[in-house]
Amino acid sequence: MKDTRQQWWKDAKLGMFIHWGLYAIPAGEWKGQKTPGIGEWILKHLEIPLAEYRALAKEFNPVDYDADKWVKVATDAGMKYLVITAKHHDGFAMYHSKCSKYNIVDATPFGRDPMAELAQACKKAGIKLCFYYSQAQDWDEENGLGYGKPDNEKNYDQYLEDKCIPQVKELLTQYGDIGLIWFDTPMSVTLEQSQRVYDTVKAIQPDCIVSGRIGNGIGEYMSTGDNFLPALPFKGDWEVPATLNDTWGFKTDDHNWKSVGTLIDILTRINSRGGNYLLNVGPDRMGVIPQTSVDILKELGQYVKANQDAIYATDMTPMYPYDLRWCNFTSRPHRLYAHVLDGRTKINLPCIKSQVTAARILATGEDVPFEHRLTTSSSVARFFATLPERDPKHPQCVLELELADRDIVFDTLDGL
Ligand code: GLC
Repeated sequence: MKDTRQQWWKDAKLGMFIHWGLYAIPAGEWKGQKTPGIGEWILKHLEIPLAEYRALAKEFNPVDYDADKWVKVATDAGMKYLVITAKHHDGFAMYHSKCSKYNIVDATPFGRDPMAELAQACKKAGIKLCFYYSQAQDWDEENGLGYGKPDNEKNYDQYLEDKCIPQVKELLTQYGDIGLIWFDTPMSVTLEQSQRVYDTVKAIQPDCIVSGRIGNGIGEYMSTGDNFLPALPFKGDWEVPATLNDTWGFKTDDHNWKSVGTLIDILTRINSRGGNYLLNVGPDRMGVIPQTSVDILKELGQYVKANQDAIYATDMTPMYPYDLRWCNFTSRPHRLYAHVLDGRTKINLPCIKSQVTAARILATGEDVPFEHRLTTSSSVARFFATLPERDPKHPQCVLELELADRDIVFDTLDGL
């Protein structure tokens, strides 16, 4: 993967994904039948006749949509960029498209352009607006991939010409600066076809980053599988797209929310290994982000904001030799941050080879007593610290270690 050199994105570490479209109306259920899969795939999974699915547009009137409120949910969570579905696989444009009437302004009673409102709200709040665009799958179009007749009987070049390229151009000209375009599921698209989409983006906004899922290895960062984390530190630019529950698009019966503790663990593990966390919300048919999502993200944001230095613009941290379940490390020059995930106060961290010159609780600046022995009879360095007691409801805290050396080095276990 190429390095984008777009430092803002590398430094952001946490972003918001928003899956919102017509699928928020059935919300996981069609004529009494529940979809077994993710909400935004209901059309395909339940093989809904296209005419019936299209008719949802006439019912779509999300009058409670408030772009400023959404942006506040993101900024309260400490998120630095926001990626919203401008067009998902169902083919419905969630913005005012001139080249397809199947869009939220022309086909619904709502008649507003949520992307225009979001662009303004993002600008006000200083957060980057980014678009998700399904460039290969379009279940509504004869030549879009993924639905109806077999893909090899379709003329995908025609689809590119008629819809994908014109819509990508619209997205890059109608809403100001776009941080990145999140292409997805490249399917059988050829290198030449992916390149055409890529070139379209760069010709209009050269700084707009292109996601790895454009396909054929030409994206500018690696996008992991949904909810998959690399097991080891991974160099380069990468991101984990992830759900808060088990769906992207809103589903009424999905209550399998991750706890804030789990999110802090995942976020700091991703950051430790050098990546970004793109965490999803699925607003409902009225344009409201589920309250549970709002509450969870707010609490996550409290941790992120209190511990900013240990998250934003941190470096990929070398692998710690022990498998600690209770601690993730992030780092920057002359600093090692131990994200302590449970309520323990007695900290035992062997193998810290760089000399520790100070130890404190990052959020409060409080110094903590510590003992660091670099040369020991056990041949790995020993480090002990005592942390203050914490509220059992919010046990996580960051122990900041100041290092004499610029880069953290851990002992290996070889000599033991
Ligand atoms: C998948 C799905 C899609 C979802 C995406 C998020 O590729 O097809 O519905 O938007 O992952 O990462």
